[in-house]
This record gives sequence, structure tokens and C-alpha cells, in this order.
Amino acid sequence: MDDKWVVYISKAEIAQAVETLAAAIDHEYAGRSLVVVAVLKGAFIFVADLIRQMQTSVARVELLRLASYGAGTTSSGQVEVLVDLPPGAVTDQHVLLVEDIVDTGRSTTVAMKLLQEQHPASVKLCSLLDKPSRRVVPVVIDYLGISIEDKFVIGYGLDWDERYRDLPDIYVVEGGD
Ligand code: IMP
Ligand code: MG
Repeated sequence: MDDKWVVYISKAEIAQAVETLAAAIDHEYAGRSLVVVAVLKGAFIFVADLIRQMQTSVARVELLRLASYGAGTTSSGQVEVLVDLPPGAVTDQHVLLVEDIVDTGRSTTVAMKLLQEQHPASVKLCSLLDKPSRRVVPVVIDYLGISIEDKFVIGYGLDWDERYRDLPDIYVVEGGD
């Protein structure tokens, strides 16, 4: 890995954020079961850690795959649905939508629309990261891990042109935006 990347959020800080989020979710859903819907690819590591930290019973895990970034570090503005939910997967269910990061808010808005079309009992959003200064479409994050500045980050599921998802810490380009 190129040494221009510096650790921005350490794996210990990530683990702490995951623990806090899981506790808040458990508090809210005590005695109920949840359908967890993760937005691929970025959320795959976060959701795996989150559901193992949660005590709440998980009725099922569904995976939605959206794409918006292409090869650059700026969103194309177009959100493509690469893998949709199975029909009826969240109908009448309490749903927790899990995102890696909310940036412009476009992906989350598309994911929410796909969920709402199936008439779930409720939907809440959990995102590990938030870049509020980049928002184009308003999004309410019910469970937020860490709010960050307008910087492009990689690691812990987040990629740059498909690379670096495997890194256990989250990195940023030194001096870059
Ligand atoms: P949106 O702009 O809110 O639609 O974000 C779309 C997706 O872009 C997120 O789910 C991430 O997968 C990706 N993304 C946004 N910001 C970053 C970043 O800083 N690093 C890597 N991926 C990002
Ligand atoms: Mg994503």
C-alpha cells in the first residue's frame, strides 16, 4: 500500500463505534426481531461486525447492491441498482438499513425507496460514517457511528476503485480532500 495514506479512524475506534451502535439498536428493538438490509459492497464488513455485536434477534439478512462511484473519488450522481431485494423480503418487517457511509445521500435515498415499495412495518438507517457537508439529498441517520469531514476515506469495506476494502483501519489521503 502507498504510504501517502494515513490512519484516520483506527480499528479500535471503529470497534468502539460498532459497540455503541449495537447497544443503541438493542435498546430500541428489545424483544423484537429485525431484518437487516446491508448496502453492498461498502457495508459488507461493517454489517458483519454489527450483527455479531447486536443481541437483537436477526430474522434475516438481505443484501442490496448499489453502485454510484465508478473509478473516481467523486460520486457520478447516478445510482445503479445492481442487485435488488427479493420480492416481499421486507414486507411487514422491522428493517434496519445498514450503510458504510452517507455522502451525497443519493444511494441511501434509492435504497429507502426500494424498501418502502415492499411496505415494511418500519425502517431505520444505521451508517458507520457520515459526510454531512457533502449532502445533496436530505437523509435522516437514526444510528450514526462517526461523522467525518469532506475527505475521501478507504478501508473497512470502503474502496478506491475496488481496492483497499480489506484494510482493518480507515485511511485518508494526507493533505487531500
Ligand atoms: P452517496 O453519495 O451518499 O450516494 O454515497 C454512495 C456511496 O459512495 C457510499 O455508500 C460509499 O460506498 C461510496 N463513498 C462515499 N464516500 C466515500 C469515501 O470517502 N470513500 C469510499 N467510498 C465512498
Ligand atoms: Mg455504500
